[in-house]
Amino acid sequence: AVLEQEAENATITQGVVESNHTGFSGAGFVNYDNVVGSSVEYTINADAGGEHDLTFRYANGTTVDRPVSVTVDGTGAQAVSFPGTGAWTTWQTRTARVTLKAGPNKIRATATTANGGPNADKLTAVLAGPPDNEAP
Ligand code: GCU
Ligand code: CA
Repeated sequence: AVLEQEAENATITQGVVESNHTGFSGAGFVNYDNVVGSSVEYTINADAGGEHDLTFRYANGTTVDRPVSVTVDGTGAQAVSFPGTGAWTTWQTRTARVTLKAGPNKIRATATTANGGPNADKLTAVLAGPPDNEAP
């Protein structure tokens, strides 16, 4: 199964769904409020537990990084950088490796600077290592 959620379908705290900058997938993207603490919480329903690569599709039309803190079910915070993409209509990806459990995982990406997060299009997760239940 493709493990993916559009940002506009995720749980948004201090942000709005917009569609004025083209090139997004689905119905639009999330424009994070430009404040520390604005966030998007995705739900990824993993087929198997184990390490996954999370790919965030985003745009940042400024020249300043828009880092976020990524947690899974509220733990394991890691910083993920979202440098400028050249234009708000230019979408790129950044990837972070996390451990997911089988079933639903809440993946929260919270802005850590006063500029807020980048414009967020979607999150995709791909199993990276052997699943937790693979026989040795
Ligand atoms: C512009 C742009 C928004 C973006 C914002 C920002 O207003 O149109 O899509 O979110 O800049 O700097 O965060
Ligand atoms: Ca914004």
